[in-house]
Amino acid sequence: MRILCFGSLNLDKVYKVEHFVKPGETLASLGLSLFCGGKGLNQSIALACAGCPVSMAGKVGKDGDMLIERLKEKGVDTSFVRQTQGESGHAVIQVDESGQNSILLFGGANREIDEAFIDEVLNNFQAGDFLLLQNEISGMPYIMSQAKKRGMIIVLNPSPMDDSLKKSGLENVDWFLLNEIEGEQLTGESEPRLICEALSKMYPKSKTVLTLGEKGSVCFDGENYTEQAVYPTKVVDTTAAGDTFTGYFLAGLLQGQQIPEIMDMASRACSITVSREGASDSIPKMSEVIC
Ligand code: RIB
Repeated sequence: MRILCFGSLNLDKVYKVEHFVKPGETLASLGLSLFCGGKGLNQSIALACAGCPVSMAGKVGKDGDMLIERLKEKGVDTSFVRQTQGESGHAVIQVDESGQNSILLFGGANREIDEAFIDEVLNNFQAGDFLLLQNEISGMPYIMSQAKKRGMIIVLNPSPMDDSLKKSGLENVDWFLLNEIEGEQLTGESEPRLICEALSKMYPKSKTVLTLGEKGSVCFDGENYTEQAVYPTKVVDTTAAGDTFTGYFLAGLLQGQQIPEIMDMASRACSITVSREGASDSIPKMSEVIC
């Protein structure tokens, strides 16, 4: 069984701010850092950090060498990452004094994923292999339909949520890993258990993991709920917290662990991520999580 993460790679320009810029306001930032990010790259790295061999598929621009290098450094297979002549995707991220963020995306090469490339990548995978997706690349409906045709198990982090994703063939999804805002956007419900139940009714084959920020997380397998609290820590930057949870959760699943154990480990990993600056840079290795 193999794991493919087909997703985005972004250069993250992170500005420290006293507060998020308001409409019409000009605000001096307190600092700028450049990090490797993108939900696809972050989740691939989280899987690798959690001890799972993973291949990443996606596209970067001519300025994307550092993104490929970062994946390699972390042990992610980059044979399906292509470099285009355009610009890489990037994100403009404001991080305020409480560590919360606000993210503006520019798709760049992430929006150059076409059917020919999708076929080329998926031809290397087969029934029973796992496919991890987010919603920052083009071609999502085609990827999901082709992966399902091949019998792959689809894990979707529907972030960022938008109307087109809702029409992308979500009935093909085996696992949803999402936060409560995305859950509400998908189901119209706002209470965690109601979100899980609504998703289960809408997509009866699927299972759900819902992250709830400082209120923890909940997993619903269609019958049983497993709830997990957060491990409190000093929050510096919440960027990639959800990506860490997703990568660690999927790693635990693939390693055959029980859901309570998996949720606990993912939650521990997250608390380390939010205590550090940056996206992929903040994701801990398993040795840091279990020490
Ligand atoms: O989830 C965090 C990520 O979202 C950032 O790294 C940014 O690039 C955006 O994709």
